[in-house]
Amino acid sequence: MVKKTTDDFTWDDYTEKHYEPEMFDILQTKLNLDMVITDFTETDGEITFNNRLHENWMELYYQVHKLGVKSVFECGCGCAHHLINIRKIMPGVDINGCDYAQTQIDLGYKYYDLESYDFANKLTVKDLTSSEGIKEMGKHEFVYTQAVTMHLAYDKAKKFLINMRDLSSKYVFLIENINAHDYEDLINEVFYDFERIQDGRYISTGILLKRRTDGSSPKTGVPHFMNSIETNKGWL
Ligand SMILES: C[S@@+](CC[C@H](N)C(=O)[O-])C[C@H]1O[C@@H](n2cnc3c(N)ncnc32)[C@H](O)[C@@H]1O
Repeated sequence: MVKKTTDDFTWDDYTEKHYEPEMFDILQTKLNLDMVITDFTETDGEITFNNRLHENWMELYYQVHKLGVKSVFECGCGCAHHLINIRKIMPGVDINGCDYAQTQIDLGYKYYDLESYDFANKLTVKDLTSSEGIKEMGKHEFVYTQAVTMHLAYDKAKKFLINMRDLSSKYVFLIENINAHDYEDLINEVFYDFERIQDGRYISTGILLKRRTDGSSPKTGVPHFMNSIETNKGWL
């Protein structure tokens, strides 16, 4: 597969040129979707959504709810409506996120009352293709993207995923167009100490990864740092 060498968008004018108009023209008008959850039910611990939501979004909320995670971090959170929805279905969860552009986060204030949510002032502007400041951002149990790495050049996507790995204490969830990159390769290289969980309810293309508690690699069963030394892959 040919490695993508440029991003699909120029992120500095992405909000005005693409995201904000498409929120209305495509998501809300053409697809008639609700951006914010107003109605859901829980039966025997299982959640059902009564709004019109995209299947990718339902998969995300379903997994967060089912795993009962204590903290989430969205990488490239856009207008933060996923974080708002997670707050609505799980009031106790610690919510965090960042985006490359403040203009993206501002849409949450403009349209979805972001200021009324306790986590709003924790959202930060951060380029997740740079490792600078990642340690200071702490660890979070469930770290995810929805439609972000698929739009990046391959090398940038890889750096982004490495930062996601470093932000996660347990799970990483990728909801991406799996044909945009060779994700098998990326996952083998970046998430060598995670196992893949096949557990989709609404979509089969979500990539749910769980950190191996013993730090072993799937191929050899030896600690990953031994593996990297043996194969000289430079993982450390
Ligand atoms: C297609 S939008 C998806 C936004 C949101 N996840 C959603 O589902 O609505 C891609 C997002 O990724 C963000 N992004 C792109 N490059 C990034 C980077 N290097 N670091 C952090 N965020 C980035 C963009 O600003 C944009 O908000």
